[in-house]
This record gives sequence, structure tokens and C-alpha cells, in this order.
Amino acid sequence: MSRSTRNPFDSLLTRREALAILTVGSAALVAGSAGLDAIDSNAAEPSADHDTSPSTALGGNNAVIPLPFAAGSLNGLSERMITSHHDNNYGGAVRNLNRIEQELSRINADTPPPIVAALRDRELTFRNSKTLHEAYFANLGGNGRRSGAIESAIAAAYGTTARWEEQIRLTAMGLAGGSGWAILGFELDTGVLRTFAGGNHTQVLATSVPLLVMDMYEHSYQMDFGAAAAKYIDAFFANVNWDEVNRRLERARRASDALRGAKA
Ligand SMILES: [Fe+2]
Repeated sequence: MSRSTRNPFDSLLTRREALAILTVGSAALVAGSAGLDAIDSNAAEPSADHDTSPSTALGGNNAVIPLPFAAGSLNGLSERMITSHHDNNYGGAVRNLNRIEQELSRINADTPPPIVAALRDRELTFRNSKTLHEAYFANLGGNGRRSGAIESAIAAAYGTTARWEEQIRLTAMGLAGGSGWAILGFELDTGVLRTFAGGNHTQVLATSVPLLVMDMYEHSYQMDFGAAAAKYIDAFFANVNWDEVNRRLERARRASDALRGAKA
């Protein structure tokens, strides 16, 4: 599979980790010697009876959320690419998270620590991928015209909104050709807007919540734009749903006020 079309979520485990899991009989996690592709992006949804698990933290019953807009309705982002991204990349992350949670629900004192470590590593990857993809799709489907409280908040943080947009576009371009996320976040413990890059699904600003999320994995744009990431970034901004960003800002401010009030 070419680099541009490979689903990064397929890379669940290194071959060494996969073989180690096989040795402890975790055949449900690794079926065969495929190693990196041991759990594929089309893994079945968990069986209904798994919903009866007493564990809410490791229920393995996370659901794929439908696109909040018609897949063919975006301006300059094709239905084929959006559908593939949603169903294969995001959907694959959710399905893989479910299987990892099922495995973690079964660890015990006999489970080798390296196996637990590998499972925890993959759990964080897929959980963050799920969260960030859901934020990404939910902040698309708009007309791209920025307005409301986010406008003044960005201006207060960066001097001008144009300067901030330059910041996040350059942040995104820094990830072009690779993988990661360009994010405008709200830092809960300070109440400050922060723009940052997550080199992969596990690199996020620790106390921030995402306000605007831009997927910079190649699967986000390669199908429509090839390597021309800048054109994808233009298309992304033309489709931002700033009403959703404003809703997130309002919730984040309330949460931050509550958090910092509790600290005082
Ligand atoms: Fe993605």
C-alpha cells in the first residue's frame, strides 16, 4: 500500500509487540502473523452483548458518529475523499479503539507489562484520533466566515485575526507531507488561546480543549490535492463552521472559569 493511501490507524503494534501478544495467547487481538496490520480498519463493531460490560472506561462500545453534514456538500473537498476519511480513517480508529478496550478489560496480574504498555499506547492513539476526528468533522460544513466571540478572542490573543490565521496556516504547512494536527486550543488552566501542532494523535497541549481542529494527515487531502497541502488548507478554511467553534469557546470559557475558581 502506498504511503499516501495507507491508513495510519492500521499500525497498531510493532511486529515485536504483536509477536509478544501472540505468546500470551491474545489471539483475539492479533489474528495471525500480519503484525502491523493485525487489527484492520474494517474490524467488526463489537457484539451487542459487549454493552453489558460493567466497565464504563473499557466498554469497547464506542460508536462512529455520522458526518454532521452531507458528504458532498463541502466547497472544494470531494464527497469521495470526505467519505473515505470518515469511514476508513476515523471509523477505523473507533473500531480499533473498541478492540483495544476489550483487550485491556481482560488484562490481569499474569499479563506481561510490555503487553500492557503496548495496549495503553495504542489506546491513547486511537482515543485521541477518535476525539480529534470528531472535532475536525464537526468544525466543517460551514461557510468559512469567521464571526462572533472567537473573532475578538483571537484578536486579543494574537493582535489581529489575520496574524493568527497566518500562524495556524504556517503550523499546518509545517506538518505537510507528514502527519499530525494543527489546532487552536483553549488552555483551561490559563484561559488563553493556544495554536499548536500535534505530530501525531498523542501530542496535544495537556490542559487544552480543541476549538478548531485541522487534520493534516495526508489522507485528509491527498486524494483531492496530491501533495498540494496549501490548496487543502485554503479549502479547509472555506468550509469552517465558525458557529461550532464559537460554541466550543463558550463551553471552554465556562469550564475554565469553574476550574480556576475551584483552585482559588
Ligand atoms: Fe484523519
